[in-house]
Amino acid sequence: MMTSDAFSAEFEAFLAAHPAYGETGGLDALREHDFGRLDAAGQVYLDFTGGGLYGESQVREHLELLTSNVFGNPHSANPTSLAATAQVEAARDAVLAYLNADPEEYDVIFTSNASGALKLVGEAYPFAPEARYLVSYDNHNSVNGIREFAARAGATVAYVPVTLPDLRLDTDLLERGLEALEPGADGLFAYPAQSNFSGVQHPLEWVERARELGWDVLLDSAAFAPTNRLDLSAVRPDFVPLSFYKMFGYPTGIGALIARRAALAKLVRPWFAGGTITLASVGAGVHRLASGHTGFEDGTVDYLGLPAVRIGLEHLKAAGIDDIHTRVGALGAWLLAEMDAMSHSNGAPMVRVFGPKTMERRGATIAFYLLDPTGAVYDVDLVERLAGARGISVRTGCFCNPGDGEVAHAITAEEMSGCFTAPGVPVTLRDCQRLIEDATGKVPNTIRASLGWASNFADVFALREFMAGFRDVPASEIGRA
Ligand SMILES: Cc1ncc(COP(=O)(O)O)c(C=O)c1O
Repeated sequence: MMTSDAFSAEFEAFLAAHPAYGETGGLDALREHDFGRLDAAGQVYLDFTGGGLYGESQVREHLELLTSNVFGNPHSANPTSLAATAQVEAARDAVLAYLNADPEEYDVIFTSNASGALKLVGEAYPFAPEARYLVSYDNHNSVNGIREFAARAGATVAYVPVTLPDLRLDTDLLERGLEALEPGADGLFAYPAQSNFSGVQHPLEWVERARELGWDVLLDSAAFAPTNRLDLSAVRPDFVPLSFYKMFGYPTGIGALIARRAALAKLVRPWFAGGTITLASVGAGVHRLASGHTGFEDGTVDYLGLPAVRIGLEHLKAAGIDDIHTRVGALGAWLLAEMDAMSHSNGAPMVRVFGPKTMERRGATIAFYLLDPTGAVYDVDLVERLAGARGISVRTGCFCNPGDGEVAHAITAEEMSGCFTAPGVPVTLRDCQRLIEDATGKVPNTIRASLGWASNFADVFALREFMAGFRDVPASEIGRA
């Protein structure tokens, strides 16, 4: 264990190497007064890409609002309903304002999460035999899943691969994929602003390039928005899915599809529901869908939770997204450099990072695993458990991002197909991992540490100290989970 003097010395060296971190002291104050529960409980939270953390004052403010008002189901003319409608619309306005989106150009549809937003697009996009769905390899499964809607309609589905070692897209293949859209045909191009696996940040300029070539562009910003500024007056994707709990922790269960009004008008909803129509008749068998967001919000929105979205955005804005970005950038740079430098006494590296090794064009989401002195991989699930015993929360698995995982671990399509031999029989990542590991020695399982607005040096230091504990320990001595 390091002494506090040793910690202080490392912190001083970190500050000297990353002076910009010292200018984000407001976030230290925030950590102290709004996230004090972390240190009080001895928790080192390194799973911000899994879920953001809420500041305690957000919850108090929300509670105060709920306990001092009476809210009824929105969209009636009675006072409690009007009060709820006002809160819902204030949340909608707050989302647009936060993203610097022109309300004339963009609309906000509240959903239950980013996946709900993605499904709205997938099920309503006018996929047809001449249409195309172009997808980057490093998408989250909720973006991959749209291929089922596309394929069912006979559209062409094409993936643009990521390449080793950095897991960035092959830009020549991307350009070719973009140029393959026939004039006049519908095409949806989907990529993440930041991969939730590798942390890679793809150029936002691709949005404009793809739109010039006739594509509708879905920019998955779920992993990007919590620590990066997304300005929809500068970058103009057609569809942007978000989950608010990833941005500011609370509430869970609310996301949004931010959509260009023109792109929204192109979607064809496969059904109607309460709240989405201007009128429906049973006798006449006819309905008329409402325009804009109303036509996409099925049933009653979470009108008690939505005020917490406005509150969360206000808190995120007050904390300062640029400071958050600077801070996680400095912490990420330190962690990546430490990971790169750590070695066993025989000189063998202790850590293998999947993705870029510096913070250039990437976020502070770091996928890695730990290697023993012979290069064998320590059992990932066991590492998670041992980290947990020290109060450290990292995530393991494939993070719903199979494309990045398969390329990172060099798993071939044939090897993956081997996991799906019995049609319809459920197979888990763990089953598949064991199968591939036993057959090939490859380990298709990964550890992920991700930083967010409450992260500080002590958090990344604790992870470094935990990893250092594996020095010179054979993997066989540790065993499997
Ligand atoms: C890049 C990305 N897209 C989409 C999602 C889906 O978000 P949710 O599970 O909140 O629907 C996630 C969640 O991790 C993500 O990281």
